[in-house]
Amino acid sequence: MTTTTLLGPVSDFVAGAATKVAIGQRTLVVVRLGEDFYVLDDRCSHEDFPLSEGEVNVERREIECERHGAQFDLVTGLPVSFPATQKVATYRVTVVNGQVEVELP
Ligand code: FES
Repeated sequence: MTTTTLLGPVSDFVAGAATKVAIGQRTLVVVRLGEDFYVLDDRCSHEDFPLSEGEVNVERREIECERHGAQFDLVTGLPVSFPATQKVATYRVTVVNGQVEVELP
């Protein structure tokens, strides 16, 4: 079962950038690319480091960990470069009436 959680209005999120969002015990990273949104756990799978501090590669739809440079696919959460080898959890996002919502387990 999933819970739909409001993240805020679309205008709260800068296009091409990563935003850290805390929801209860969870810390998420929200990435906006144009009108598309991606939500992942804000934790690199290599070591415990926030992905929200990294750079977003808009063309490749990836986020790069600031610590050691691993890159993750924003759609799948899979690493596309070392040193990370494990997936980062991703969550389904929808925009309803200008509000960004995420489905959390
Ligand atoms: S902590 Fe992210 S690549 Fe090492």
